[in-house]
Amino acid sequence: MTSSIIKFILNEKIHEIHNPDPNETILNYIRLRLKKTGTKEGCAEGGCGACTIVIGELKNNNIIYKAINSCIAFTPSLEGKQLLVIEDLMLKNGSLHPVQSAMVNYHGSQCGFCTPGFVMSLFSMYKNNSSYDVRTIEEAISGNLCRCTGYRSIIDAAKSLDNNEPDQFKKNKRKIINLLKKIRPKSISINNQNKKYFAPRTVNELKKIIKKYPNLDFLSGGTDMSLIVTKQKKTLDNIIYLNSIDSLNYIKENNKYIEIGATTPLRKFELFIKKHYLDFNVILKRYGSVQIRNVATMAGNIATASPIGDSLPLLLSLDASVVIESFDKKNILPLNNFFISYRKTKLKKGQFISSIRIPKYKKNIFKAYKISKRIDDDISSVCASFNLAIVNKKIKSIKIAYGGMAPIPKRAIYCEKMLLNSNFSENIILKAQKSLEKDFQPIDDMRASKNYRMEIAKNLLLKCFTEIKKNKLIRLNY
Ligand SMILES: Cc1cc2nc3c(=O)[nH]c(=O)nc-3n(C[C@H](O)[C@H](O)[C@H](O)COP(=O)(O)OP(=O)(O)OC[C@H]3O[C@@H](n4cnc5c(N)ncnc54)[C@H](O)[C@@H]3O)c2cc1C
Ligand code: FES
Ligand code: FES
Repeated sequence: MTSSIIKFILNEKIHEIHNPDPNETILNYIRLRLKKTGTKEGCAEGGCGACTIVIGELKNNNIIYKAINSCIAFTPSLEGKQLLVIEDLMLKNGSLHPVQSAMVNYHGSQCGFCTPGFVMSLFSMYKNNSSYDVRTIEEAISGNLCRCTGYRSIIDAAKSLDNNEPDQFKKNKRKIINLLKKIRPKSISINNQNKKYFAPRTVNELKKIIKKYPNLDFLSGGTDMSLIVTKQKKTLDNIIYLNSIDSLNYIKENNKYIEIGATTPLRKFELFIKKHYLDFNVILKRYGSVQIRNVATMAGNIATASPIGDSLPLLLSLDASVVIESFDKKNILPLNNFFISYRKTKLKKGQFISSIRIPKYKKNIFKAYKISKRIDDDISSVCASFNLAIVNKKIKSIKIAYGGMAPIPKRAIYCEKMLLNSNFSENIILKAQKSLEKDFQPIDDMRASKNYRMEIAKNLLLKCFTEIKKNKLIRLNY
């Protein structure tokens, strides 16, 4: 059944919005309509965390709590979920939630502008983990900026937490689960002042909508798309929301490859991929923030086709393919043939990425490096990825790809040719470094100069060689 009414849980009750504006952000809805102004707007582009809220999702008879940036999520995406904002953490008698108390006790707040966002990020960490080491804490708050308190007291507050003490959410969990079951998400179709919004629940429904409206724009996590509204101040008049399709939220594997469904959040993939390609996990840990990775998808990263999209050089060096579907066709395209020019791809109107396939190289060495101005929550200046097999000291196969070195993420074909079937020696690596000048003519921009980019690209090749040769990681953070 299709509906134009969005239903979600707020304050332990079912809340309805009739035919909402598909471009209204959850942040604006909370502040302007619910009149709950604890949630703040800092950047309106997912970068500061001041607007962090927590979404509760029903999974296997349990609630999964996800911190997200409400400034870049649209209201209809609340369908079938629980919305938790900072005001919901305090009990009716005025007592604070343990996370709030810890922030007070450890002096984790000064001006207080960032504090609701930090509390919500820490709340989601508190609910999803049983112990909190520094890594877990730093990761949980990697998408929250504070400009006056400093992070030490916030981290100390987080370390003091103990979720063995039941909070009100543990106590009323059963009630919320029952309410979530009652409002299980439906297919949504909205037409609000000529803005169309569809949220199909199945691929079949999606195909029917595409057949009827081939010019609609796909929206997945919205971490690129929503900025058209929040930053460029334009409207998105025709949206098909894909993240409502649960059957595309999967990770499968067989002997040959791993397949990731299009609506799988990066956070889920990041945890899975560790056992196959550790450096993929390492790069994803520095991809945006937990709030971003809780909703953003790899399919969105591929379709955006940014030259500095972080998953792209990794996927290229692993020779990944994209499964592309339209209402009546399906084909598989190597990612290496997918990017045409700056932010242009082979995707035609009405075609969507349904999954991504990553081959398994069981005997190869896979390495990836991201160079950015900040460790957390920053976009790459250069990203490099290496996938090679060394047999009897000879390079028997090699695939190298870089981001940030050309208008598209690209394989380093000349460099690969020079290295293939050569002895794995420093001498050949030094020659191969030079060949990168044939592969790439990078540009100057605010992130890095062209000379810096080229120097970094060469150094990362040498770093990869040195790490393999010395069988040791040379990294500041791991
Ligand atoms: C604060 C912040 C930090 C970020 N940090 C990083 C970072 O560190 N590294 C990085 O690479 N990126 C980063 N990004 C960019 C963004 O998060 C990624 O590109 C993300 O993977 C996009 O996925 P999405 O699901 O949110 O896509 P959306 O924003 O929903 O869509 C992006 C584009 O892809 C299209 N699209 C989406 N899904 C499909 C599909 N299945 N088939 C066809 N087309 C589709 C949409 O129509 C749109 O054109 C950041 C963004 C923000 C706001
Ligand atoms: S307002 Fe800065 S992340 Fe949302
Ligand atoms: S307390 Fe002022 S920005 Fe964090």
